[in-house]
Amino acid sequence: MAYTVPKLKDFSPAALDGAVAELLSALEEESAQPGNADARKAFRDRWLARKDGILTQINELWLKAAPKDAKRDVGQRVNKLKAEVEQKVEAALEKKPAASADTSLDISLPGIRRPIGAEHPIIRTMNEIVGVFKNLGYSVAEGPVIETDYYNFEALNFPPNHPARDTQDTLFLANQETKPRREQLLLRTHTSPVQIRTMEKMRPPVRIVIPGKVHRNDPPDASHSPMFHQVEGLAVDTNITFGDLKGTLDHAMKALFGSSAKTAFRPSFFPFTEPSAEMYVSCFICGGSGKRGSDPCRPCKQTGWIEILGCGMVDPNVFEFVKHNGYDPEKVSGFAFGMGIDRIAMLKYGLDDLQLFFQGDVRFLEQFG
Ligand code: DAH
Repeated sequence: MAYTVPKLKDFSPAALDGAVAELLSALEEESAQPGNADARKAFRDRWLARKDGILTQINELWLKAAPKDAKRDVGQRVNKLKAEVEQKVEAALEKKPAASADTSLDISLPGIRRPIGAEHPIIRTMNEIVGVFKNLGYSVAEGPVIETDYYNFEALNFPPNHPARDTQDTLFLANQETKPRREQLLLRTHTSPVQIRTMEKMRPPVRIVIPGKVHRNDPPDASHSPMFHQVEGLAVDTNITFGDLKGTLDHAMKALFGSSAKTAFRPSFFPFTEPSAEMYVSCFICGGSGKRGSDPCRPCKQTGWIEILGCGMVDPNVFEFVKHNGYDPEKVSGFAFGMGIDRIAMLKYGLDDLQLFFQGDVRFLEQFG
Protein backbone atom coordinates (compact mmCIF):
# COMPACT_ATOMS: atom_id res chain seq x y z
CA MET A 1 0.00 0.00 0.00
CA ALA A 2 1.36 3.39 -0.96
CA TYR A 3 2.10 5.67 1.94
CA THR A 4 -0.45 8.38 2.77
CA VAL A 5 0.10 11.15 5.28
CA PRO A 6 -1.93 10.28 8.36
CA LYS A 7 -4.01 12.76 10.28
CA LEU A 8 -2.51 13.02 13.73
CA LYS A 9 -4.53 12.89 16.90
CA ASP A 10 -1.67 12.41 19.25
CA PHE A 11 0.95 15.18 19.11
CA SER A 12 3.17 13.80 21.83
CA PRO A 13 6.90 13.64 21.03
CA ALA A 14 6.72 9.84 20.88
CA ALA A 15 3.79 9.85 18.47
CA LEU A 16 5.52 12.47 16.32
CA ASP A 17 8.71 10.40 16.31
CA GLY A 18 6.68 7.44 15.09
CA ALA A 19 4.93 9.42 12.35
CA VAL A 20 8.24 10.86 11.13
CA ALA A 21 9.90 7.46 11.09
CA GLU A 22 7.01 6.01 9.13
CA LEU A 23 7.21 8.77 6.53
CA LEU A 24 10.98 8.45 6.15
CA SER A 25 10.79 4.72 5.72
CA ALA A 26 8.17 5.17 3.00
CA LEU A 27 10.45 7.67 1.29
CA GLU A 28 13.37 5.30 1.51
CA GLU A 29 11.37 2.51 -0.03
CA GLU A 30 10.14 4.64 -2.90
CA SER A 31 13.62 6.06 -3.53
CA ALA A 32 14.93 2.58 -4.18
CA GLN A 33 12.44 1.80 -6.92
CA PRO A 34 13.88 2.50 -10.35
CA GLY A 35 11.79 4.41 -12.84
CA ASN A 36 11.73 5.87 -16.29
CA ALA A 37 11.46 9.62 -16.90
CA ASP A 38 7.73 9.63 -16.19
CA ALA A 39 8.09 7.66 -12.99
CA ARG A 40 10.86 9.98 -11.79
CA LYS A 41 8.70 13.03 -12.31
CA ALA A 42 5.76 11.35 -10.55
CA PHE A 43 8.03 10.49 -7.62
CA ARG A 44 9.24 14.05 -7.31
CA ASP A 45 5.74 15.50 -7.56
CA ARG A 46 4.38 13.08 -5.04
CA TRP A 47 6.83 14.27 -2.43
CA LEU A 48 7.59 17.88 -3.31
CA ALA A 49 4.73 19.28 -5.39
CA ARG A 50 3.43 22.56 -3.93
CA LYS A 51 -0.07 21.47 -4.59
CA ASP A 52 -0.82 18.37 -2.60
CA GLY A 53 2.68 16.95 -2.41
CA ILE A 54 3.45 15.03 0.77
CA LEU A 55 5.40 17.95 2.25
CA THR A 56 2.44 20.26 1.63
CA GLN A 57 0.14 17.75 3.25
CA ILE A 58 2.37 17.61 6.31
CA ASN A 59 1.91 21.33 6.64
CA GLU A 60 -1.83 20.92 6.53
CA LEU A 61 -2.32 17.72 8.46
CA TRP A 62 0.38 17.99 11.05
CA LEU A 63 1.46 21.61 11.58
CA LYS A 64 -1.81 23.42 11.05
CA ALA A 65 -3.72 20.72 12.91
CA ALA A 66 -1.40 20.80 15.92
CA PRO A 67 -2.82 22.09 19.19
CA LYS A 68 -1.31 25.34 20.42
CA ASP A 69 0.97 23.81 23.01
CA ALA A 70 2.49 21.37 20.51
CA LYS A 71 2.86 23.91 17.64
CA ARG A 72 6.40 24.86 18.48
CA ASP A 73 7.64 21.29 18.66
CA VAL A 74 5.69 20.19 15.60
CA GLY A 75 6.91 23.27 13.68
CA GLN A 76 10.55 22.46 14.38
CA ARG A 77 10.10 18.83 13.49
CA VAL A 78 8.24 19.64 10.28
CA ASN A 79 10.94 22.12 9.20
CA LYS A 80 13.65 19.60 9.85
CA LEU A 81 11.67 16.89 8.10
CA LYS A 82 11.05 19.10 5.05
CA ALA A 83 14.74 19.78 4.63
CA GLU A 84 15.52 16.11 5.00
CA VAL A 85 12.84 14.97 2.56
CA GLU A 86 13.86 17.56 -0.03
CA GLN A 87 17.45 16.50 0.19
CA LYS A 88 16.62 12.80 0.03
CA VAL A 89 14.28 13.18 -2.93
CA GLU A 90 16.89 15.14 -4.88
CA ALA A 91 19.55 12.59 -3.99
CA ALA A 92 17.31 9.74 -5.05
CA LEU A 93 16.56 11.45 -8.37
CA GLU A 94 20.25 11.87 -9.01
CA LYS A 95 20.94 8.27 -8.17
CA LYS A 96 18.14 6.82 -10.25
CA PRO A 97 20.10 6.26 -13.42
CA ALA A 98 18.76 7.49 -16.74
CA ALA A 99 19.32 3.98 -17.98
CA SER A 100 16.51 2.91 -15.77
CA ALA A 101 14.33 4.30 -18.53
CA ASP A 102 14.71 0.78 -19.93
CA THR A 103 12.48 -0.46 -17.17
CA SER A 104 9.62 1.00 -19.15
CA LEU A 105 10.05 -2.20 -21.15
CA ASP A 106 6.90 -4.22 -20.89
CA ILE A 107 7.97 -7.80 -21.37
CA SER A 108 4.40 -8.94 -21.69
CA LEU A 109 4.03 -7.09 -25.00
CA PRO A 110 4.66 -9.08 -28.18
CA GLY A 111 8.16 -8.41 -29.56
CA ILE A 112 8.93 -6.38 -32.65
CA ARG A 113 9.11 -8.90 -35.41
CA ARG A 114 11.29 -7.87 -38.30
CA PRO A 115 10.08 -9.32 -41.55
CA ILE A 116 12.37 -12.18 -42.51
CA GLY A 117 13.91 -11.56 -45.90
CA ALA A 118 13.89 -14.12 -48.65
CA GLU A 119 17.07 -15.74 -49.83
CA HIS A 120 18.03 -14.06 -53.09
CA PRO A 121 17.39 -16.43 -56.02
CA ILE A 122 21.03 -16.20 -57.10
CA ILE A 123 22.32 -17.06 -53.64
CA ARG A 124 19.80 -19.86 -53.42
CA THR A 125 20.94 -21.31 -56.74
CA MET A 126 24.56 -20.92 -55.66
CA ASN A 127 23.88 -22.73 -52.39
CA GLU A 128 22.13 -25.57 -54.21
CA ILE A 129 25.13 -26.06 -56.47
CA VAL A 130 27.57 -25.85 -53.58
CA GLY A 131 25.36 -28.31 -51.64
CA VAL A 132 25.63 -30.93 -54.40
CA PHE A 133 29.42 -30.82 -54.18
CA LYS A 134 29.43 -30.76 -50.40
CA ASN A 135 27.57 -34.04 -50.54
CA LEU A 136 30.43 -35.40 -52.64
CA GLY A 137 32.90 -34.42 -49.92
CA TYR A 138 34.03 -31.07 -51.35
CA SER A 139 34.77 -28.20 -49.01
CA VAL A 140 34.07 -24.54 -49.68
CA ALA A 141 36.74 -21.90 -50.27
CA GLU A 142 36.42 -18.19 -50.91
CA GLY A 143 38.75 -15.45 -52.04
CA PRO A 144 38.89 -11.68 -52.53
CA VAL A 145 36.87 -9.89 -55.20
CA ILE A 146 39.67 -7.33 -55.62
CA GLU A 147 42.47 -9.50 -56.92
CA THR A 148 45.99 -9.12 -58.20
CA ASP A 149 47.01 -9.62 -61.79
CA TYR A 150 49.12 -12.53 -60.55
CA TYR A 151 46.24 -14.62 -59.20
CA ASN A 152 43.63 -13.59 -61.76
CA PHE A 153 45.88 -14.15 -64.78
CA GLU A 154 49.57 -14.95 -64.45
CA ALA A 155 49.43 -17.99 -62.17
CA LEU A 156 46.52 -19.29 -64.25
CA ASN A 157 48.86 -19.43 -67.22
CA PHE A 158 47.73 -16.21 -68.89
CA PRO A 159 51.18 -14.71 -69.56
CA PRO A 160 51.43 -10.88 -69.65
CA ASN A 161 50.05 -9.54 -72.94
CA HIS A 162 48.70 -12.96 -73.92
CA PRO A 163 45.64 -12.58 -76.17
CA ALA A 164 43.63 -14.92 -73.93
CA ARG A 165 43.41 -12.02 -71.48
CA ASP A 166 41.27 -10.18 -74.01
CA THR A 167 38.50 -12.75 -73.59
CA GLN A 168 37.91 -11.43 -70.09
CA ASP A 169 37.06 -7.73 -70.32
CA THR A 170 38.77 -6.72 -67.16
CA LEU A 171 37.96 -3.81 -64.86
CA PHE A 172 41.22 -2.50 -63.42
CA LEU A 173 41.61 -0.38 -60.32
CA ALA A 174 42.94 3.12 -60.93
CA ASN A 175 46.49 4.28 -60.14
CA GLN A 176 48.18 0.88 -60.29
CA GLU A 177 50.68 1.77 -62.99
CA THR A 178 53.61 2.28 -60.67
CA LYS A 179 53.31 -1.23 -59.23
CA PRO A 180 54.93 -4.27 -60.78
CA ARG A 181 52.49 -5.96 -63.17
CA ARG A 182 51.73 -8.96 -60.99
CA GLU A 183 50.77 -6.79 -58.02
CA GLN A 184 48.37 -4.56 -59.92
CA LEU A 185 44.83 -4.76 -58.64
CA LEU A 186 41.72 -5.55 -60.63
CA LEU A 187 38.23 -6.86 -60.06
CA ARG A 188 38.53 -10.61 -60.49
CA THR A 189 37.01 -11.71 -63.78
CA HIS A 190 36.42 -15.27 -62.59
CA THR A 191 36.61 -17.37 -59.43
CA SER A 192 39.58 -19.33 -60.81
CA PRO A 193 42.22 -17.29 -58.87
CA VAL A 194 40.97 -19.01 -55.71
CA GLN A 195 42.27 -22.28 -57.20
CA ILE A 196 45.78 -20.88 -56.81
CA ARG A 197 45.12 -19.29 -53.44
CA THR A 198 43.80 -22.62 -52.16
CA MET A 199 46.68 -24.68 -53.49
CA GLU A 200 49.14 -22.27 -51.88
CA LYS A 201 47.53 -22.98 -48.52
CA MET A 202 46.50 -26.64 -48.79
CA ARG A 203 48.65 -29.51 -49.89
CA PRO A 204 47.04 -32.09 -52.15
CA PRO A 205 44.62 -33.81 -52.16
CA VAL A 206 42.09 -30.98 -52.50
CA ARG A 207 38.45 -31.03 -53.44
CA ILE A 208 36.91 -27.59 -53.21
CA VAL A 209 34.11 -25.48 -54.59
CA ILE A 210 34.42 -21.71 -54.72
CA PRO A 211 31.28 -19.58 -54.94
CA GLY A 212 31.65 -15.85 -55.49
CA LYS A 213 31.12 -12.57 -57.23
CA VAL A 214 33.04 -11.62 -60.36
CA HIS A 215 33.16 -8.54 -62.61
CA ARG A 216 33.69 -7.84 -66.27
CA ASN A 217 33.45 -4.72 -68.35
CA ASP A 218 30.16 -5.76 -69.97
CA PRO A 219 27.43 -3.14 -70.26
CA PRO A 220 24.23 -4.29 -68.55
CA ASP A 221 21.41 -5.64 -70.68
CA ALA A 222 18.84 -8.43 -70.45
CA SER A 223 21.53 -11.12 -70.48
CA HIS A 224 24.69 -9.31 -69.31
CA SER A 225 25.81 -7.61 -66.16
CA PRO A 226 29.18 -6.12 -65.17
CA MET A 227 28.78 -8.07 -61.92
CA PHE A 228 27.78 -11.71 -61.87
CA HIS A 229 28.42 -14.93 -59.97
CA GLN A 230 30.33 -18.14 -60.48
CA VAL A 231 30.92 -21.41 -58.75
CA GLU A 232 34.35 -22.86 -59.40
CA GLY A 233 35.46 -26.39 -58.63
CA LEU A 234 38.88 -27.98 -58.23
CA ALA A 235 39.91 -31.56 -57.49
CA VAL A 236 43.59 -32.48 -57.27
CA ASP A 237 44.96 -35.84 -56.25
CA THR A 238 47.08 -38.61 -57.71
CA ASN A 239 45.57 -40.25 -60.80
CA ILE A 240 42.66 -37.90 -61.39
CA THR A 241 41.48 -38.40 -64.96
CA PHE A 242 39.14 -36.81 -67.45
CA GLY A 243 36.80 -39.71 -66.63
CA ASP A 244 36.58 -38.42 -63.05
CA LEU A 245 35.73 -34.96 -64.37
CA LYS A 246 32.94 -36.31 -66.59
CA GLY A 247 31.54 -38.61 -63.93
CA THR A 248 31.55 -35.92 -61.25
CA LEU A 249 29.94 -33.25 -63.42
CA ASP A 250 27.38 -35.66 -64.88
CA HIS A 251 26.38 -36.65 -61.36
CA ALA A 252 26.18 -33.00 -60.29
CA MET A 253 23.92 -32.06 -63.21
CA LYS A 254 21.58 -34.95 -62.44
CA ALA A 255 21.44 -33.85 -58.81
CA LEU A 256 20.67 -30.28 -59.90
CA PHE A 257 18.34 -30.75 -62.85
CA GLY A 258 16.87 -34.19 -62.28
CA SER A 259 17.98 -37.73 -63.08
CA SER A 260 16.99 -37.48 -66.74
CA ALA A 261 19.54 -34.68 -67.36
CA LYS A 262 22.21 -35.63 -69.88
CA THR A 263 25.61 -34.02 -70.34
CA ALA A 264 27.79 -33.48 -73.40
CA PHE A 265 31.34 -32.16 -73.69
CA ARG A 266 32.83 -30.16 -76.54
CA PRO A 267 36.48 -29.23 -76.89
CA SER A 268 37.35 -25.69 -75.91
CA PHE A 269 40.28 -23.62 -74.73
CA PHE A 270 41.21 -22.12 -71.38
CA PRO A 271 44.82 -21.24 -70.55
CA PHE A 272 44.66 -23.02 -67.19
CA THR A 273 43.27 -26.35 -68.38
CA GLU A 274 44.52 -28.82 -70.95
CA PRO A 275 42.51 -30.39 -72.44
CA SER A 276 39.60 -27.99 -71.96
CA ALA A 277 35.92 -28.45 -72.64
CA GLU A 278 32.58 -26.75 -72.53
CA MET A 279 29.92 -28.83 -70.92
CA TYR A 280 26.32 -28.80 -72.07
CA VAL A 281 23.33 -30.15 -70.25
CA SER A 282 20.20 -31.37 -72.00
CA CYS A 283 17.72 -28.49 -71.90
CA PHE A 284 15.72 -28.77 -68.72
CA ILE A 285 13.05 -26.49 -70.16
CA CYS A 286 12.12 -28.62 -73.18
CA GLY A 287 13.67 -31.89 -72.00
CA GLY A 288 16.11 -31.86 -74.91
CA SER A 289 13.56 -31.84 -77.72
CA GLY A 290 14.21 -28.23 -78.73
CA LYS A 291 10.45 -27.66 -78.80
CA ARG A 292 7.75 -26.61 -76.42
CA GLY A 293 4.62 -28.02 -77.92
CA SER A 294 4.66 -26.69 -81.45
CA ASP A 295 6.77 -23.64 -80.46
CA PRO A 296 10.56 -23.49 -80.61
CA CYS A 297 12.29 -23.71 -77.19
CA ARG A 298 13.98 -20.36 -76.73
CA PRO A 299 16.33 -21.00 -73.79
CA CYS A 300 18.23 -23.68 -75.75
CA LYS A 301 17.69 -21.98 -79.14
CA GLN A 302 16.01 -25.18 -80.31
CA THR A 303 19.20 -27.18 -79.93
CA GLY A 304 18.05 -29.20 -76.93
CA TRP A 305 21.32 -28.32 -75.15
CA ILE A 306 22.35 -25.53 -72.80
CA GLU A 307 25.99 -24.57 -72.27
CA ILE A 308 26.53 -24.64 -68.56
CA LEU A 309 30.22 -24.50 -67.74
CA GLY A 310 33.85 -24.54 -68.75
CA CYS A 311 36.10 -27.29 -67.49
CA GLY A 312 39.25 -29.27 -68.10
CA MET A 313 42.29 -30.96 -66.66
CA VAL A 314 44.49 -28.58 -64.68
CA ASP A 315 47.31 -27.45 -66.94
CA PRO A 316 50.75 -28.57 -65.68
CA ASN A 317 51.91 -24.96 -66.08
CA VAL A 318 49.44 -24.00 -63.33
CA PHE A 319 50.86 -26.63 -60.99
CA GLU A 320 54.32 -25.15 -61.59
CA PHE A 321 53.22 -22.01 -59.72
CA VAL A 322 52.38 -24.03 -56.58
CA LYS A 323 54.88 -26.86 -57.04
CA HIS A 324 56.58 -25.95 -53.74
CA ASN A 325 53.42 -26.96 -51.86
CA GLY A 326 53.27 -30.54 -53.11
CA TYR A 327 51.83 -29.95 -56.59
CA ASP A 328 54.48 -31.61 -58.71
CA PRO A 329 52.83 -31.98 -62.13
CA GLU A 330 54.66 -35.27 -62.51
CA LYS A 331 52.90 -36.64 -59.45
CA VAL A 332 49.48 -35.03 -59.20
CA SER A 333 46.70 -34.31 -61.64
CA GLY A 334 43.37 -32.63 -61.32
CA PHE A 335 40.31 -31.23 -62.95
CA ALA A 336 38.63 -27.86 -62.65
CA PHE A 337 35.39 -26.30 -63.74
CA GLY A 338 33.68 -22.96 -63.52
CA MET A 339 30.04 -22.10 -64.09
CA GLY A 340 28.01 -18.92 -64.23
CA ILE A 341 25.22 -18.89 -61.69
CA ASP A 342 23.10 -15.99 -62.90
CA ARG A 343 22.11 -17.59 -66.18
CA ILE A 344 21.27 -20.89 -64.49
CA ALA A 345 19.09 -19.01 -61.98
CA MET A 346 17.36 -17.18 -64.85
CA LEU A 347 16.52 -20.45 -66.55
CA LYS A 348 15.46 -22.04 -63.31
CA TYR A 349 13.04 -19.25 -62.43
CA GLY A 350 11.96 -18.56 -66.01
CA LEU A 351 13.20 -14.95 -66.18
CA ASP A 352 13.81 -13.09 -69.39
CA ASP A 353 15.74 -10.18 -67.88
CA LEU A 354 18.92 -10.65 -65.87
CA GLN A 355 18.68 -7.11 -64.47
CA LEU A 356 15.70 -8.11 -62.32
CA PHE A 357 18.15 -9.85 -59.99
CA PHE A 358 20.03 -6.65 -59.24
CA GLN A 359 17.41 -3.92 -59.19
CA GLY A 360 16.36 -4.62 -55.62
CA ASP A 361 12.65 -4.35 -56.45
CA VAL A 362 10.87 -5.83 -53.47
CA ARG A 363 7.89 -6.85 -55.60
CA PHE A 364 10.25 -9.12 -57.53
CA LEU A 365 12.29 -10.36 -54.60
CA GLU A 366 9.40 -11.17 -52.27
CA GLN A 367 8.16 -13.77 -54.72
CA PHE A 368 11.06 -15.91 -53.55
CA GLY A 369 10.03 -15.74 -49.90
N1 DAH B 1 37.20 -19.19 -65.39
C1 DAH B 1 36.51 -19.50 -66.64
C2 DAH B 1 35.68 -18.31 -67.05
O1 DAH B 1 35.28 -17.55 -66.24
C3 DAH B 1 35.63 -20.71 -66.45
C4 DAH B 1 36.40 -21.94 -66.24
C5 DAH B 1 36.77 -22.72 -67.32
C6 DAH B 1 36.81 -22.33 -65.00
C7 DAH B 1 37.48 -23.89 -67.17
C8 DAH B 1 37.52 -23.48 -64.79
C9 DAH B 1 37.86 -24.26 -65.91
O2 DAH B 1 37.94 -23.90 -63.60
O3 DAH B 1 38.56 -25.39 -65.72
O4 DAH B 1 35.43 -18.14 -68.19
